[in-house]
Amino acid sequence: MNNLLKGLNIYLVGMTGVGKTTVGKLLAEKLNYRFLDTDFLIETVAKKTINDIFTDEGETSFRDLETQVLAQVSSYTKSVISTGGGIVLKQQNWSYLHYGLIVWLDAPANLLIQRLAEDKTRPLLQEENIALKLLKLQSLSEERKPLYSQADLHILIENNYTPEQIVSEIIEQVPLKIKSSLSMNN
Ligand code: S3P
Repeated sequence: MNNLLKGLNIYLVGMTGVGKTTVGKLLAEKLNYRFLDTDFLIETVAKKTINDIFTDEGETSFRDLETQVLAQVSSYTKSVISTGGGIVLKQQNWSYLHYGLIVWLDAPANLLIQRLAEDKTRPLLQEENIALKLLKLQSLSEERKPLYSQADLHILIENNYTPEQIVSEIIEQVPLKIKSSLSMNN
């Protein structure tokens, strides 16, 4: 697989709580790639949490930082890059994402809510009431689906999938995608 990838970055996109960071770390290990996480880099650059960036400077500032970080990481090679759920919102970000292979990790909102029920670190999901939180997740997911679906690969995650299974699925699918795009270019 590494021969086929030729150092091409892999970007993981998808809804918040889908497991991009966990899967990304594992995938990077398997491929002998560097692991990068845009949310982590944003917090490092801003020297504050994502919640604090949203509160102090607003979502627009966060999105600008996100684009700057993405522009930086896209100059690397041999990296698996986990991105924040909203990275797909800006058209400009796609020009960076397309430097690599974009993998959409897709899970139903009722699976995401199980993971996010107690989470307080996502500024867009601050609802205390679980039913309202689920509604918010569903509406974000519906709104973004047409954007995520522009990814090169779609990995559908079922309830009982382990991160290892998801990584195996990606490793199985990536070469097929690369081969089909190679044959299209010939
Ligand atoms: C966001 C998702 C978060 C983070 C920020 C905004 C979003 O990342 O970037 O809170 O717009 O969906 P995760 O997808 O890692 O939770």
